Amino acid sequence: MGVQVLGISGSPVPNSNTDRTVRHILASTGLETEFIKLSTLELVPCRACLCCLDADACPVNDDGRRLATQFAEADAFVLGAYTPCGSLDARTKTFMERMYCLRHRKGLNRGKIGVTVITTAISGDTSGEPTAVQLASAQLRSWMAEEGMTPLGALVLHGNVPCFRCGHGDACDMSGLKVSEGAQDIVRSAGLEDAEPSPELLEKAADLGRALRNALTGES
Ligand SMILES: Cc1cc2nc3c(=O)[nH]c(=O)nc-3n(C[C@H](O)[C@H](O)[C@H](O)COP(=O)(O)O)c2cc1C
Repeated sequence: MGVQVLGISGSPVPNSNTDRTVRHILASTGLETEFIKLSTLELVPCRACLCCLDADACPVNDDGRRLATQFAEADAFVLGAYTPCGSLDARTKTFMERMYCLRHRKGLNRGKIGVTVITTAISGDTSGEPTAVQLASAQLRSWMAEEGMTPLGALVLHGNVPCFRCGHGDACDMSGLKVSEGAQDIVRSAGLEDAEPSPELLEKAADLGRALRNALTGES
């Protein structure tokens, strides 16, 4: 028997903003939960071999098999992603691809309730193109719609750009700081070297956790 709510983070950074926000939502449900950090697993993308068609299981012999079983057993999930290179991170994308084995005909993910968290660092975009968050949100939403899952809520929060913390952000011409804040800016003046989930954000996260609980238990 699996947990009621599965928390999944695509962020590889230890105890990242993404992780902490997902965990906060899980804790606020008051239900039986489990947190999985995808970077601790061996997980390769879907091979599109369709071997899962009848078996509802993936033939690839990595951690994706156990993950699919855990996901199938959960009633709800909290999925945390971040936005490297301007869209959804690769581990979260790989996770979504690998859950494809639960979909054929039976729709084993149908009816699950999901909350999503997206951590982003560079929120603005002057080019007129969709931002990283818009792209990542669209990917998460379309995956949930394809699987017949119900989105209960979504949070977007500010994370840390590695370039702000590497120690060379002020001097490096390739720094994400210079891209997002302007060529003359320095880490200290940008004030983004140590982004943390704000109390307001954590309160919204707690609200989402309680909403998940209410949706699953019928309480209000
Ligand atoms: C290789 C790499 C590329 C990144 N590119 C972007 C980007 O294009 N846009 C953006 O918003 N953040 C980018 N980031 C920053 C991540 O979004 C940031 O690490 C994320 O907000 C996670 O923050 P956290 O570790 O505080 O949870 C990049 C990070 C890495 C490691």
